[in-house]
Parts: sequence; structure tokens; C-alpha cells
Amino acid sequence: MTNTLDTLSPIVAGVWRMASWNWTPQERLRWIEGCLDLGVTSFDHADLYGGYTVESLFGEALALAPGLRQQMQLVTKCGIQLRLPSRPATRIKHYDTSAGHIERSVEQSLRALRTDAIELLLLHRPDALLDADEVAGAFERLQTAGKVLRFGVSNFSPAQFALLHARYPLVTNQVECHPLHRAPLTDGTFDQAQQLRARPMIWSPLAGGRLFTSEAADAMRVRGALAAIGEAHGVSAATVAFAWLLRLPSRPHVIAGSRRLEAMEEAVAATRVWLDAQEWTEILVAASGEDVA
Ligand SMILES: NC(=O)c1ccc[n+]([C@@H]2O[C@H](COP(=O)([O-])OP(=O)(O)OC[C@H]3O[C@@H](n4cnc5c(N)ncnc54)[C@H](OP(=O)(O)O)[C@@H]3O)[C@@H](O)[C@H]2O)c1
Repeated sequence: MTNTLDTLSPIVAGVWRMASWNWTPQERLRWIEGCLDLGVTSFDHADLYGGYTVESLFGEALALAPGLRQQMQLVTKCGIQLRLPSRPATRIKHYDTSAGHIERSVEQSLRALRTDAIELLLLHRPDALLDADEVAGAFERLQTAGKVLRFGVSNFSPAQFALLHARYPLVTNQVECHPLHRAPLTDGTFDQAQQLRARPMIWSPLAGGRLFTSEAADAMRVRGALAAIGEAHGVSAATVAFAWLLRLPSRPHVIAGSRRLEAMEEAVAATRVWLDAQEWTEILVAASGEDVA
């Protein structure tokens, strides 16, 4: 059974790194419960996370408290075939957006997550061999069967999004964005999202941690700006980094990927912080190293 909520939480929990946390099922369950307690009710998966293991690790933890499924939204992705010793038929890493692969991948995700439906399925990467009519057919069948409620894409250009959206309604484009990677601000991605009211999802909001660990000049300048603005608001620098993204008028859902619940709490705190245009620009300018034109 799935819940009827079709809206993702403003902060989404990303589980890409979960296999590397080397947790017991109980520890995984505690993290899931901790996220839910913070209002982080959406969980971002992909079939291939942890070398195709994370969905099962998550499903195993969820089986300890099956009632939690009603309180969460599950997002997963497909469309990349990794070359692994356990998958000898794949000679080379490649993209596969064929209807057969999409439908088989969903069946596998449902089994691994131990659920009967996924709230949101994304195609993981754009694929030069993507046939929009074929994908739309697969989406239609999965939706009619009640196996997937809604569909989106990830890392698509605006033109790639528009092509598939013309054949089947997409609800999101999940893209990378943070002060050190600002392309979606200017390449039309967020303009399209706002135009269509298709709220984007943002991955690696802290640049995978580099915002706080990198010695590169731009990262160090951004760190200084985040800390100064955080001090003025009485919040942490990480909270300001999330607030910088949540401020965007396309109203993104931002995916936090920390194993630490304190860090998830810092992300949630950003929903209560409003940066004015000058504060927002101070972070932009710290990243780019130059004033806006
Ligand atoms: N669609 C795609 O192609 C795609 C690609 C990549 C990721 N994603 C999704 O986006 C999610 C988030 O990505 P991400 O994990 O890269 O997000 P992120 O929040 O940018 O980075 C998380 C990493 O930063 C570290 N970190 C967090 N706070 C920190 C701090 N204050 N100082 C230093 N390090 C800190 C975390 O370590 P700790 O755990 O120790 O806090 C963790 O290793 C993934 O889980 C996945 O769901 C999607």
C-alpha cells in the first residue's frame, strides 16, 4: 500500500551513499525514522545506488516497521546499466531507456523496496537513443498498472525535457546545483521548471561536501559568505547553503545526502530562512569571483 500524498517534502533524503554507511537494518531504520520526524518524508533512490544494493537495504529496514511506508514518498530512477562482475551481460556502462528495461527495472525496484508502488520514477540520464514514444508507452503502462504514480527525468537539458514532456507529462527534472555548479540558473533549466510549474529536484546541494572541505579558492570564498550570512541569521553555514537553493522561484525540492541526522536538521532549518536578494547575490558573487553585470 502507498500513501496518497503526491507532494514531496521540501527537503528530500538522498540515499545514494547509504551502502557505504555500513549500517545494520536497525541503524538504517533509525535514520529513516529520524528523517520522518524532521518532516523529511521523501526518499531519493536509484536502481544502481550502492551497486544495485541500496533499494534492498532500505526495503530491509522498512520491513522492520512497515507502517512507516504510509508516511513517506519513494522516488527512484532507472536508465543506466552499470558494468559489474554481478552483471556479466553488460560489457560496457551504457544508458538504456528502452520500454523493456524501464518496466523490468521498476519491477526490481518494487521487489527491493518491498512496496507495491513508487510515487515518482525518474529517467536517470538523458540518452541519445531515447525514443520518446516508446518511453511514453512504458510510463503509461506503469501508471495504469498503479506501479508508478508520477514520472520525471534527471540531468536533462530543457530541450530534452520538452521532448519527452510533449509525449507524457513530467513533474520534475532532478539536476545538480550549488554555488560551485550554477549552470541550471542560466541554461534554461529553472526557467522551464518555473514556466511549467514542474518543481525541480536539486542533487548534491553541498557539492557532495566540497563546499566545506575543498581548499579551492571559490569554495573558500563561498564558505566565508555562508558563514557570515549564517551568523546574521543565527544558523549554520550549511543551512544557508540550503536556503540559497530553496530561495529559487522554481521552488525546488532539495536532496540532502548526509548520514548525520543533525545535518538533515540543518537542511530542514533552511525552510525557515529567507535570504534577501543582496544576501543571495553575495553567495553568487563569492562563487563566481565577480560582480553581476
Ligand atoms: N540524479 C543524479 O544524477 C544524482 C547524482 C548525485 C546525487 N543524487 C542524489 O542527491 C543526493 C544528495 O547528494 P550528495 O550526497 O552529494 O549531497 P550533499 O549534501 O551535497 O553531500 C553530502 C555529503 O557531504 C557531506 N557533508 C554534509 N554536510 C557536511 C559538512 N557540514 N561538512 C562536510 N561534509 C558534509 C556528507 O557527509 P556526512 O554523511 O558525514 O554528513 C556527505 O558525504 C544523493 O543521495 C542522491 O539521492 C542524484
